[in-house]
Amino acid sequence: MKPIGVFDSGVGGLTVVKELIRQLPGENIVYFGDTARVPYGIKSKETVIRFSIENILFLLEQDVKLICVACNTVSSVALPIIKSHFRVPIVGVITPGVREAVYATQNKRIGVIGTRGTVKSNAYEKQIKQLDPSMKVVSVACPLFVPFAEEGLLEGGEVLSIARKYLKPLNKFGVDTVILGCTHYPLLKPVIKKVLGKDVTLIDSAKQVAIEVKRILATEGLLNTDRKKASHKFYVSDNPEWFTGLAARFLGAPVSGARKINNV
Ligand code: DGL
Repeated sequence: MKPIGVFDSGVGGLTVVKELIRQLPGENIVYFGDTARVPYGIKSKETVIRFSIENILFLLEQDVKLICVACNTVSSVALPIIKSHFRVPIVGVITPGVREAVYATQNKRIGVIGTRGTVKSNAYEKQIKQLDPSMKVVSVACPLFVPFAEEGLLEGGEVLSIARKYLKPLNKFGVDTVILGCTHYPLLKPVIKKVLGKDVTLIDSAKQVAIEVKRILATEGLLNTDRKKASHKFYVSDNPEWFTGLAARFLGAPVSGARKINNV
């Protein structure tokens, strides 16, 4: 059975793979992490589009039946363009997260945190307001959260003090719901929760993304009902050892056999 293709700028997209495996245990998955060119969050739109097209071409060579863009930056700045270039179904992470946030908020004040690229694109805010124009949105870039998550600094004074600084505008604005608009942020949920308070709902779009992938596969008659053990393959554009070292934290299980490819 054809696999699902998933790509991200690096290791963060494994938080989405984790949920895909949980909800779709029978599906084969091919993951590509562009570790040679990470981070995407500070790159221009044109560059992110170019990288994304190259990543998709690699996944299509693996004969994937659907592509999941497990990167908020790509989903924010490049999704409409890349969708118009390919016939394969492409699922991003923005719309599923937006739907859940609009459904969850009681006071119609939503916070969005992400990379600089994601925040600059305004993609979340636009989609939230499209769904419900009465929503109020505040968006903040939290660039240091990515290295904190990668270094495993998930708690303690350093990350807490940065989180307090970044999240101040959200507290001030009185949000009751916050979208974790970056693949790395689910790892920092405890510290984010500590700063925002227990009454603020954190939206991690991975769950909704997996639901959306399942829905599309079912509609297209592409769901794998085979009960054989599914295969999960991991490719990177550089440094498979670094990727493997971090993967367990993001995926919740060790990754073996990550391979470096040279075509991007
Ligand atoms: N994967 C990126 C995202 O979700 C974070 C890392 C990067 O900047 O490339 O936006």
